[in-house]
Formats: sequence, C-alpha cells, structure tokens
Amino acid sequence: MRILAIETSCDETAAAVVEDDCRVLSNVIVSQMRVHSVYSGVVPELASRCHIEYMLPVVREALEVAFGGEVRSAGFSLSSHEKVRSAGLSPSPGGEIRSAGLSLSSHEKVRSAGLSPSPGGEIRSAGLSLSSPGENRAKASTRIENRYGIEAIAVTRGPGLIGSLLVGVETAKTLAWTWNLPLIPVHHTMGHLLSVFCELPEGQSRILEIPPEGQPASAQWETIPAASPIRPIGPICPIGLTSPTAPTRPTAAFDYPYLGLVISGGHSSLVRVDSPLRMRLLGSTLDDAPGEAYDKVAKCLGLGYPGGPVVDRLAAEGDSEAFALPRPLLHTREYDFSFSGLKTAVVRAIQDFGGLARLRESETALKDLCASFQAAVIDVLLKKTERALKRERLRRLVVAGGVACNRGLRAKAARRLQSVHLVFPPPVLCTDNAAMIGAAAQYLPPLPRSEALALDARAGWELP
Ligand code: KG4
Ligand code: ZN
Repeated sequence: MRILAIETSCDETAAAVVEDDCRVLSNVIVSQMRVHSVYSGVVPELASRCHIEYMLPVVREALEVAFGGEVRSAGFSLSSHEKVRSAGLSPSPGGEIRSAGLSLSSHEKVRSAGLSPSPGGEIRSAGLSLSSPGENRAKASTRIENRYGIEAIAVTRGPGLIGSLLVGVETAKTLAWTWNLPLIPVHHTMGHLLSVFCELPEGQSRILEIPPEGQPASAQWETIPAASPIRPIGPICPIGLTSPTAPTRPTAAFDYPYLGLVISGGHSSLVRVDSPLRMRLLGSTLDDAPGEAYDKVAKCLGLGYPGGPVVDRLAAEGDSEAFALPRPLLHTREYDFSFSGLKTAVVRAIQDFGGLARLRESETALKDLCASFQAAVIDVLLKKTERALKRERLRRLVVAGGVACNRGLRAKAARRLQSVHLVFPPPVLCTDNAAMIGAAAQYLPPLPRSEALALDARAGWELP
C-alpha cells in the first residue's frame, strides 16, 4: 500500500511516502534544532508554531521527492510565494496556503499556536480549516485527483507534545478527508521499533534546518545520504548489516521476535516485539529519558543543545573512569530506567572539581566527565538490555531513537552483544522521521471512515 505518512510528535516536522515492503520513496524532515538550541531544550509553544509553518511545505516536498517534478493538480498546489517559503527562504507570517480545500490563515495560526484544541474532531486546531464542509466534500469526491496513487494517510497520534501532535493529526485528517483516503493512526514508539524494516534508497532523504528566530533564513533543502546522520552528529558508521555506502536495508535477514530498545530525548523503552501487532512493554524510564539526561548534562557543562552529539564526541577522548558516577537502578526494578540522579551526580562532580570554569580550564577534565557520564548511561542501558534478552530468550535486538546515534553505545553494544543479531537503523531513521510511521502503518488497520474525523492526538498514549 502506498502511504503518505506524517510525524510531528516533538520538534521535527516530517513527511514521507512509503510503499509495500516498507520501501521509502521519500523521507523529508524539517529540523527545529537550531530554533530550540537558543533555549537549551525544546520549547513546546515554539515547536507547535514551527510545525504549523512548515507542515504543508514538508508534505509537498515529500511528494516531490517521491514522484518528481511539480506536485500540482493532485489537490496539492502551493503558489510560487509558498515555494519560496517552503525552500526556507523567508517564512513570512500570515501567508495563506490554499489548495485542495486546505487553508492556513493567520487567524487560524494564532488560534492553534494558542493551543485550543476544539473537541469533536473539528478540523481546526492545527490551523487547517475547511472553509465550507459542503463545498469541500464536493471537491473531495469530484475535483481532487490523487494522481500519485497514495492509498492511505498515516500519522503519529502520540505520545508526544500535544500542541505538536495536533498539527500532524489535523493535517492528516484533512488530507484523508479531501483525498477520500483511509486514515491510519500510529504509535510513535511502534514507528521507532519497526523502522528497522525500512528500505531507504539513496537520495530520498531531505532535511531543512529552520534558523533561530530573528536570524535570516538562508537554509535550503539538503539531501542526506541514506547511511549518514543528520548534522551535526558527525560521521558515524552504522553497525549491523549496513555499511556507510550501501543503500540501507538492514533487515534482509531480520525477523520477529526481537527486543527493541528505543532511546531518545522523550522516551526510553524496552519492548518485546513478537509481530507488528504484538508488542509488550517490558520497562521504561521512571523520570528523565537518556537523551534528556544528555541534553541537561550538556547544559550544565555549557556545551549547547542538543547535548548528545557533543558529549558523545568529547567522551571519545576522555577517561571513563576518571569520575565515579552511579549506575541508577542497575540491580533493581528489572527493566526500568532512571537518569535524573545521574544528571545530579554530574552537577555534584562539577562542584567538587571547583566549578565549571575550573573544569573547562583543564585540558582533560571536561572530556573525562563526559566519558564517565556516557559510560554510566551505556552501562545501565546495556545491562538491562542483556537481562531482557536473556530472560525473554531473544537473540535479536534493535536499538532506535536519537540516542541510538551514539558512537560509544554502538561500539560497546557491538562488543558486548556478539551472539545477538544487533541492528542499529541508520541515524537518519533513528531520529524522529515519518518513514518509520509509514512503515508501521503498513501493518496497521485504517480507522473506519466514520471515525477518522474524530481522531484525537494523545500526548500520553501507551503502547497498544
Ligand atoms: O529521537 P530524537 O530525534 O527526538 C526525540 O527526543 O524524540 O532524539 C533526540 C535526542 C536528543 O536528546 C539528543 O541529545 C539525542 O537524541 N542524541 C544523542 C546523540 N545524538 C542525538 N544522544 C547521545 N549521543 C548521540 N550521538
Ligand atoms: Zn522519537
């Protein structure tokens, strides 16, 4: 089935076209990383606003990458003014995006940025409004041609930031309605777990980085190689069956059942996956997610946001035994994680050293502290993973989510888990993306048509 998928659970606005066998025709991402880096963390309100601004350009780009040429007359035409905007040149507020019965007016933007989700499945809260239901129903059935053969719309329903999720969910509902297509809600973690089955040909991934507010928008869409990471993570060779040059198909021999470790800024979950529709959560974080711990530690060390890539890089040059840091919950709570105490221990270590200024003056101390912190995180993650593999009698493991880009983790996991079929999806599929949502949707039933317009976003949606 050819699916157009949308993902907006946190701070990436993403759309992808995925078809049978999880073959990815396009994988397009607008990254808000630089917008949030000013604040050393994701600001939910800003994230929602950026999603609204870039949602339709991202969908358009995903269709263009997948099918080439101008995406017009398929019920999705943006004016040349919008094309400039979509290239990231000058996202001017208040501009109208009109096509296929979708309109984004400044009035709606203000409403949705103010996060007032209206009940009853109304297509409003994400800033998309169908001006006249009757008129648009007529368009949907008679005038709108879906000439790219899209057969369903998939969207991340949760978990995530509610304002961010709403933009994707309402956009997906609107597209499904106007194109008269089935709608498939997808659990975000399920997407990460099934990303391992994506076949991502070279040249199909695009990224655009939004500059921080007040800075000129000079960014353009950039193609990212399938096996390379999103900047600024640095060159990483994916481990598993992939090589940095070959088109990624890490899953040729991969099968169920397997253990999934999903680790990112928002979540850490250990999941037993018996089939796309049979998954069991074994454990998760009780407080901070590992990515969150990386980001907070980086902030304490004055290293900027996101923290993972820079701490990872410094850790590679440090001594991981220089600072004695705890391994939270290593021997208790079987598969659950806790990382907030580790962050506090790092803060204490900085104080004990004589403060941040002193630590940063030393040639090695900063690197040593990064290495010690990273070793503690990896130790806990791998220990719990090994325990779950053993007790659940599993011999396959997928590690996904933004923290799965971590070089130290990749190297150590490969050394420690030699008897396990271990796959790290390529970094471009580890961080949030819509290709994984399209891949998961291949296995999921669409909503009955009568329920599609009532679909709501679920910030705290548990793994079904
Ligand atoms: O999956 P993702 O893009 O977004 C969600 O949080 O859902 O993950 C982003 C997180 C950030 O916290 C970032 O610091 C972390 O992944 N991250 C890393 C690395 N690259 C990104 N953490 C550790 N090592 C890395 N190399
Ligand atoms: Zn994620």
